[in-house]
Amino acid sequence: MAASRSNRAPTMASRTASSVLVALCLLLLAATDAEARHTRLVPAVFVFGDSTVDVGNNNDLNVTAGAKANFPNYGVDFPRSTPTGRFSNGLNTADLLVRGLGFRISPPAYLSLTTEKAIRSQMHKGINFASAGSGVFDNTGRLPVCVVLLAHTDGSDIHKSINRANRCEHCFGEVIPMSQQLEYFSELVDRMAKLSGPSKTARLLSRSIFFISAGSNDMFEYSAAPSNDAVFLRVLVATYKHHITALYEMGARKFSVVSIPPLGCIPSQRLRRLKQLGTQGCFDPLNDLSLRSYPMLAAMLQQLADKLPGMRYSLADSYAMVSFVFANPRTDSWYFTELEAACCGGGPFGAAFACNEKAPLCHNRDDHLFWDANHPTQAVSAIAAQTIFAGNRTFVNPINVRELALL
Ligand SMILES: *[C@@H]1O[C@H](CO)[C@@H](O)[C@H](O)[C@H]1NC(C)=O
Ligand SMILES: *[C@@H]1O[C@H](CO)[C@@H](O)[C@H](O)[C@H]1NC(C)=O
Repeated sequence: MAASRSNRAPTMASRTASSVLVALCLLLLAATDAEARHTRLVPAVFVFGDSTVDVGNNNDLNVTAGAKANFPNYGVDFPRSTPTGRFSNGLNTADLLVRGLGFRISPPAYLSLTTEKAIRSQMHKGINFASAGSGVFDNTGRLPVCVVLLAHTDGSDIHKSINRANRCEHCFGEVIPMSQQLEYFSELVDRMAKLSGPSKTARLLSRSIFFISAGSNDMFEYSAAPSNDAVFLRVLVATYKHHITALYEMGARKFSVVSIPPLGCIPSQRLRRLKQLGTQGCFDPLNDLSLRSYPMLAAMLQQLADKLPGMRYSLADSYAMVSFVFANPRTDSWYFTELEAACCGGGPFGAAFACNEKAPLCHNRDDHLFWDANHPTQAVSAIAAQTIFAGNRTFVNPINVRELALL
């Protein structure tokens, strides 16, 4: 630039230097372009579910602090220690999975795209609709309904805790249920079809990955006032089936579904057991429910794939994945020394006081399985993402997401 602005003719050397520079830039551009084209295994990734994959949809919603993560110490290991709304010290499983699929940027939160231009620039690459605290059921996590529901139970314990805290532990407010996430997606598909035409849109959607991680909050809420486990699980899986069918009808073909993890072993549930039974260990009723839900989810997905032409799926067995890490906390690939307590949070298991700026924070996040009372660390999410992407049949069935993407 300096040479071209001066009145002197550029010397041979500087001319050669600038053509080399131009050639280099072109090469770099071409390389980036090629890389972008060749490493992205699918055109787009659309994400649905709860806090395990939320990247900030709840930030501006009227929800309690329990369903927000846009304050410190969340994001302490994110670039510039930015809290983004991810329930993690850094990245979550959705972020890390899309990296495996060749995306540099994780699909952004739908509600963070506030202009038409922002939506248009993202809609062909993927968008994230997940909302912390939400569930497969419409009412899960939503405050007014939750209070009514609990007011009709006989559990005196629950009454007491509501009176004391003036809220229930799993009711957060206006979280976005799965049906509303699908409604938002449906509006997006209409926009895409208007802009690119229906057949081009259908082609893009049929090649994209639909990543879903949901069901844990429904299970938490049910377990606060359990009635009939078999009925609960049947209705949960039937409702899940309804949502997946709706996505299929909108054009989705490739589903990556994450099953419900052993929820009884997270810090908040270890504390729950300690309070209720006075003993150490995982809260077994939740683990039983989770374990029973897996074969039902697997059967439901297989039934759908048998019935719906072109539908393909990959089901990750969270229960098996987490159990494997519990059984093998120290390997060549990872090294965990704290398997029970949250990194960020106070009291027993770091679960009695919520993670925030004032809460105790562990020094090394990578040696903890749990980041806060209810969520894994980035280190664990990385293992989950890697397994979902490339894991063997012990963990992902009938195929993994890499195979799903390449179909
Ligand atoms: C937020 O939700 C609470 C509880 O449902 C409600 O009382 C309050 O009016 C809501 N606030 C806004 C601004 O909508
Ligand atoms: C899958 O990988 C795990 C962990 O490396 C291993 O223990 C298991 O035996 C493998 N399962 C199959 C079916 O290859």
